[in-house]
Amino acid sequence: MKGKRILLVIGGGIAAYKVLELIRRLREQDASVCPVMTKAAREFVTLLSVAALSDSRVFDNLFSLTDETEIGHIELSRAADLVVVAPATADLLAKLAHGLADDLASTLLLATDKKILVAPAMNVRMWENPATRRNVASLRHDGVLFVGPEVGDMACGEYGAGRMSEPAAILAAIEDALRGDTRIALPGQPLAGRRVIVTSGPTREPIDPLRYLGNASSGKQGHAIAAAAARAGAEVVLVSGPVALPDPAGVVTHHVTTAAEMLAAVEAALPADLFVAAAAVADWRGAEVAPQKLKKGAQAPVLRLVKNPDILARVAQSPARPRLVVGFAAETENLIDNARAKLAAKGCDVIVANDAGEAVGQDENQVTIATRGGTETWPRMRKDHVALKLVAYLGKLMEADRAQ
Ligand SMILES: Cc1cc2nc3c(=O)[nH]c(=O)nc-3n(C[C@H](O)[C@H](O)[C@H](O)COP(=O)(O)O)c2cc1C
Repeated sequence: MKGKRILLVIGGGIAAYKVLELIRRLREQDASVCPVMTKAAREFVTLLSVAALSDSRVFDNLFSLTDETEIGHIELSRAADLVVVAPATADLLAKLAHGLADDLASTLLLATDKKILVAPAMNVRMWENPATRRNVASLRHDGVLFVGPEVGDMACGEYGAGRMSEPAAILAAIEDALRGDTRIALPGQPLAGRRVIVTSGPTREPIDPLRYLGNASSGKQGHAIAAAAARAGAEVVLVSGPVALPDPAGVVTHHVTTAAEMLAAVEAALPADLFVAAAAVADWRGAEVAPQKLKKGAQAPVLRLVKNPDILARVAQSPARPRLVVGFAAETENLIDNARAKLAAKGCDVIVANDAGEAVGQDENQVTIATRGGTETWPRMRKDHVALKLVAYLGKLMEADRAQ
């Protein structure tokens, strides 16, 4: 980050206070921060606080004679290596999506020739409003990068998607954007304007308050697919079981524990254009969950199991079925036969089959793609590359589907 110049547009949201921490962290990394505040932003944090933390004066007025003669709004918009908008209010997203330029912040966003990274922050209803969703879809289509928003408690007392990402996550997204690895190997934006739901990681089925049935899934492949879909221009909802991975940038992540919770979160996220079920969902759960820790007695307890809901089949057969439903099959034998059988049994369109022993927890994967038309095996590669290749492949399938 040393020497990198960040033009930081601060919008008028309650999360503006977190931006002070972001500026501090950017400065710690020797990045230079040029802050621009909207009129509304000044209601939430003071010019003085922002100026004190930055290494630059704060710009807030389009019609300032001094600023215009010294640097000018066009030069200001281009002098940066990256433009970051945090918090990106519903209003700023709308202005950017529609090309409005009625103040310094929106004019700079329209005039810049640099990449723009936005960190949305707003009430869940504002985020889920069809107008905001349309704006977000067209911004993704235009190549605007997103970090967050996250799911959680809101300042207004509600719960849902709309919390601004934490400064550390925004910092990581800034590093990614500056490295330019946000579009690796993706021809264009193959999922622009699509809504995608991805499941990832294992589920945990409790036995007692401390113990659970789980599996070794790391979530690396599913998380990489969610990140790749976001980079491909999609609006992505990731439903993740317990994993030790950070939430991918630009993705709304819901954290769940059990298969039943995962199903509920997926159903709540529908409708979507594409569903990718990459999670290793436990097939069974304990018939009863002991309310207290099971004691180590003379006799080993007998666990009675019941079947969990089949999330992939449920989504594939639901009235709100996405146009494309993709399942994963982690097999230990007869990979291709089992993948083809799963394709038919679940009613999905694509199965991505991998060898459970070779793929689970690893950084690389070798997959076979099974569709009704046949199978193709891809070479072994990094999971993030599998994800990018898969996203490009699914984008083409959806395009071909639309053309028919
Ligand atoms: C207390 C309060 C908190 C607000 N928080 C947000 C918010 O988090 N996100 C948002 O999009 N708008 C929020 N608003 C509304 C914006 O401040 C308002 O839409 C404003 O016009 C945005 O201006 P800007 O986009 O130029 O910064 C809030 C308003 C108030 C009064």
